[in-house]
Amino acid sequence: MNTEFVRTGSLTELTSYPKWAQAMVEACEPARRSVREHVMWDLMSEGRIDVTTMSNFMVGTWSLIERFPSFMAQNLLKTQYGRSAGDNLARRWLVRNIRVEQNHAEYWLDWADGAGVPRQQVLEGRPPRGTQMAAEWCHEVCGKDTLAAGIAATNYAIEGVTGEWSQKVYDSAAYADSLSPAGRKATLRWLQLHAAYDDTHPWEALEIVCTLMGSHPAPEEVEHVRECIERSYVSLHYGLERCLLQPVAEKVEDQAA
Ligand SMILES: [Fe+2]
Repeated sequence: MNTEFVRTGSLTELTSYPKWAQAMVEACEPARRSVREHVMWDLMSEGRIDVTTMSNFMVGTWSLIERFPSFMAQNLLKTQYGRSAGDNLARRWLVRNIRVEQNHAEYWLDWADGAGVPRQQVLEGRPPRGTQMAAEWCHEVCGKDTLAAGIAATNYAIEGVTGEWSQKVYDSAAYADSLSPAGRKATLRWLQLHAAYDDTHPWEALEIVCTLMGSHPAPEEVEHVRECIERSYVSLHYGLERCLLQPVAEKVEDQAA
């Protein structure tokens, strides 16, 4: 049943991919939108985010950022050169792109610092409850599931939607203006690198997933990968929601009132 997929159309057009992949991407759109259109990005891009929410976001997202190359390495361990076209493509791509992630953790700390969250707090602070779901999920899917599922959940889903929200914040003059002019460039570096403009990584990841799965995979196989992608979006969304919660002290007061 599994017949080979070789892309002929443009990398960044959904129509270049098999029908099953197009339907899968469309089915995941509501979950993806819940991340892309989260109020967190409005708070940032309108320059009105409070320091508690920003700190929750920086500390809560840190492990996902810091561990991202490890998730890719977990997927690399599953590849075997010469086994299939998908394996070859995945191996080559992962080896090259783990290297690209090299400085991104450092740039995240620069962003935090410039946004008023000292790097020590990011490194040592306790993440708000519920914010570690995405990192835990990536570790699970990349460690225990198939190569296609792991790449779909991380490099396609997480990186894809991150490119969309990063662009939104990076494009905002109000956000840039809310930062101190000294060091502004360094503060915005992580966002600049992850903004979707020319970022073809998530498309390349989709191509790898399609090459691994072929043009006619079993429906249950597709359903499983769809679920993995959706879980990535849902865990990101849930984490963002948790960052928005008021500090515990205020909540207790509210309840007492
Ligand atoms: Fe990165």
